[in-house]
Amino acid sequence: MTADPGSAVNRRPLRRCGATAALSVALLLSSCTGGVRGAAGSGGVGDPLFPSLGNGGYQVRHYGLDLDYDVRKRHLDATADITAEARADLRSFQLDLQGLRVTDVQVDGEDAGFSRKGHKLTVRPPEGLRKGAEFRTRVAYEGTPEEMKDPDQSTEGWVKTRDGAFVSGEPAGSMTWFPGNNHPRDKATYDFTATVPKGYTAVANGELRSERTAEGHTTFRWHNGRPMASYLATATIGRFEVHTSRTPGGLPLYVAVDPAEAKASKGPLAKLPEITTWETKLFGPYPFSSAGAIVDDTPKRVDWLALESQTKPVYAGAPDTLTVVHEMAHQWFGDSVTPKTWADTWLSESFATYAEWLWTERKGGKTPQEQFDALYDDTEDPARWAFPPADPGRAKNVTGTPVYERGAMFLQELRNAVGDKTFFTILREWPAEYRYRNADTQDFLDFCQEQTDVDLEPLFKTWLYEKGKPKRED
Ligand code: ARG
Ligand code: ZN
Repeated sequence: MTADPGSAVNRRPLRRCGATAALSVALLLSSCTGGVRGAAGSGGVGDPLFPSLGNGGYQVRHYGLDLDYDVRKRHLDATADITAEARADLRSFQLDLQGLRVTDVQVDGEDAGFSRKGHKLTVRPPEGLRKGAEFRTRVAYEGTPEEMKDPDQSTEGWVKTRDGAFVSGEPAGSMTWFPGNNHPRDKATYDFTATVPKGYTAVANGELRSERTAEGHTTFRWHNGRPMASYLATATIGRFEVHTSRTPGGLPLYVAVDPAEAKASKGPLAKLPEITTWETKLFGPYPFSSAGAIVDDTPKRVDWLALESQTKPVYAGAPDTLTVVHEMAHQWFGDSVTPKTWADTWLSESFATYAEWLWTERKGGKTPQEQFDALYDDTEDPARWAFPPADPGRAKNVTGTPVYERGAMFLQELRNAVGDKTFFTILREWPAEYRYRNADTQDFLDFCQEQTDVDLEPLFKTWLYEKGKPKRED
């Protein structure tokens, strides 16, 4: 689904359908063309780029994931306890799960019917569910989790490493290791109980509640108490060197590094306290109760560098400092304020890129305007102009160059239009206003427009929605 250029900055179809999601199935089908597909309990949430992901029939509150991983056999034995609220009357609903074998499903303690097709696990509770009801689904499953390849050819999900698994989930990979509502619009809290052979560490999001070794196995309990999109979940396993510390402001840091990457990552990771403190000054209070990093030694085919998994970005190899700056900025932009759909990723990547520009300037390098000029004048990389950032059109564009670079250039143009004072207010107040929620381009336009008398719609239209290289306004 691509945006109609004439109504480019109008609300996305998903938003228009959101209000009707709780209506009866018949009404839903007739009133939503192209937004939410199928009945409330089936299909996907109608994402413009990944229409088969997620489910609009319910909203998850909490995931309790119990994962027992045999590193040598690559075997996962797990249960997922999913507490959710029905957003419509449901006779059945679907979870996303790719591969693995489901052995048992219960809803509110009663055996439920289930069937599988592709990455959809359909669950039929014996009683059906009433709109507004909170219900608890327990899925028991096991097998060897397999990584997946995205439309943009990147590798994600549960990626086997020499000593465990590197676990990253953007955009879809979380379904390779747990069943869930696999769409950024449905954010939930998480508890992880991960058991691995002694000597291995299982590192998940949030704070470590306990670590106990008995009979040759260690169980790690992690608590992630703030809403999190499924793509930001991790449970990375390996033989890690673990360092815990605190930032000067008292924020706990948990850093796990594969020994093979320890030397190269030492310098950049040592800057974590400085980066976090600096970003807190720029973007407002840090949104979570801890921060950190997971640096793994990964197979070559994982050729992208990093993902902003919540509280602890994962790095597929030693990061450089700018990548740490980028992934930490995502904690505000992407993790706390999460794009509503996969077509809105520019709202996350452009800010993370702009944070790199601000850091570079702070360290005596180019100013953001100089970064803008260099990219604008550069003719080497036409990919930068391949599609408009807020209308990526195709799944393979989800994290394409324009989403980062043209998005950050747009922010520089926004800064030039509203002035420094208002721009830096936006950088602080936008994450405050949408803290722990989802947002789309229209929300951002509305928000910015409240801060200024300058008509921002033309700027948004040109830089975010129009095809080709925008003309410079001077
Ligand atoms: N969000 C990550 C970053 O910019 C990039 C992840 C890319 N993954 C992908 N499947 N395209 O930090
Ligand atoms: Zn990023």
